[in-house]
Amino acid sequence: MSERYTRIAVFGGVYSNHLALEATLQDARQRGAEAIFCLGDLGAFGPHPDRVFPLLWEHGVQVVQGNYDHSIGNDLADCQCGYTDPRDNYFARLSYAYTYGKTSPQYKDWMKSLPQSLRIELGRYRVLMVHGSPRKMNEFLWESTTPTHFLVKLTRDYAADLILATHTGIHWQRALPGDRYFVNVGVIGRPANDGRTNVWYTMLSATSAPHSLQVEFIPLEYDYQRLAQEMAEEKLPVEFIETILTGWWTTCLEILPGKERRRGRY
Ligand SMILES: [Fe+2]
Repeated sequence: MSERYTRIAVFGGVYSNHLALEATLQDARQRGAEAIFCLGDLGAFGPHPDRVFPLLWEHGVQVVQGNYDHSIGNDLADCQCGYTDPRDNYFARLSYAYTYGKTSPQYKDWMKSLPQSLRIELGRYRVLMVHGSPRKMNEFLWESTTPTHFLVKLTRDYAADLILATHTGIHWQRALPGDRYFVNVGVIGRPANDGRTNVWYTMLSATSAPHSLQVEFIPLEYDYQRLAQEMAEEKLPVEFIETILTGWWTTCLEILPGKERRRGRY
């Protein structure tokens, strides 16, 4: 029997942004979250990867393994981010080498042990939490390119009324026939390529009544200037710092479908 809740907070993509993580945890508690979930990718772009873990543990956050966590935990050669563009690969390698080198062995072991999915009940809804998609950890499900019939099939195949995922870096949601839903909960590690410096996480509430699901995307302010300063001190790429300071992505752009890319600056 899975755990049952009525109000939860869920986020993805911490990307070593320990300042946003701290702010998210505090904000989620203030908003009455009974439990807090993270859908993976603890490391990447940001500084001091080890600072994330004590916060997750202290707040009892339940964590699903992301592709980054799987790679770091299993000593793989790359992040399994799936880039083919040479420029994106260059930055992905830099970021991965930094994060791998600065993550302590006990945290690597913990990431290796993380589950690839979690199931809970939220009110009347059977919830399945994954990183990319239920069928593949590093599958990108974008709003503009994911057909509704495919999401419906996933809810059927995996016996879920509500599927929660992250991985793409941009939050979105879709109501499906039969009071079912797919929600990309967003990431708290970097802005959503929207020209805003805040990051995004998701609060979800439901009761036992039909159509009672409420999904709220929360814009989360944190000390992004301090994060940028720490990144500079760690000699992380100026391209990553620019994203933190402007809200526009400067790398990992090739993965974006045309519609999502046209919303950004680059
Ligand atoms: Fe990911």
